[in-house]
Amino acid sequence: MKIWNNFTKTVNVPAEGIKLEGEEPSIRDKYRDDIERVLISKGCLKKRVEHLASEVADAFEEVKEVNCLVVLKGGMFFASDLIRLIDDETELRTRIDFIQASSYYDKSTTSGRVKLRESGLLKGENILLIEDIVDTGGTLKRLQDYLREKGKFFKTCVLLDKGLPKSPGLELDFVGFNIPNEFVAGYGLDYAGMYRGMPEIVIVKKELLK
Ligand code: XMP
Ligand code: MG
Repeated sequence: MKIWNNFTKTVNVPAEGIKLEGEEPSIRDKYRDDIERVLISKGCLKKRVEHLASEVADAFEEVKEVNCLVVLKGGMFFASDLIRLIDDETELRTRIDFIQASSYYDKSTTSGRVKLRESGLLKGENILLIEDIVDTGGTLKRLQDYLREKGKFFKTCVLLDKGLPKSPGLELDFVGFNIPNEFVAGYGLDYAGMYRGMPEIVIVKKELLK
């Protein structure tokens, strides 16, 4: 298998954010009033996702296929980049299915309740659960319990980890970045439906969060 790059295994993101050498992340005027700063640049996301794809591919090599279960909606861009790399660069076959987990509704604080809405058949035994962010782990724990009930084997891949104490029994196999405990958006993550299309991970201004 091709070695994509050697962007380190765990990337700890400092409060001031990270970017690649020579990269100059800038926020477009249309969003400038809403966003405090860029936390993870486009280039860093790309490099890390490439590395995650190779880590995942190594872990699934023996079973020859990756049955991806994408947690909507925040995981959409992360999953699409990750899965396309796996399909494009390795001999592994992929399947894609979706599940929606709602715990935050339209707010920036957790409600403590997680509702699942499945879509599709979830074929295959070996599942890669793909999620945008883990905070307390309540959402992922609920999803992992659901997969266990279905008798699936699974590995969990999450782009961002806020580093807070986690729900007991939560398993995280691949983590893109450890980030400070701030409300973030961009690259699929939203605040009230907005900012998902931004190419980087950004910190939304506190005065905007209700
Ligand atoms: P738990 O506490 O269940 O929370 O691990 C994870 C879920 O909460 C959402 N979440 C966020 N969404 N910016 C977001 O856009 C954030 O900073 C953030 N923190 C948590 C997310 O839906 C995740 O599935
Ligand atoms: Mg989510």
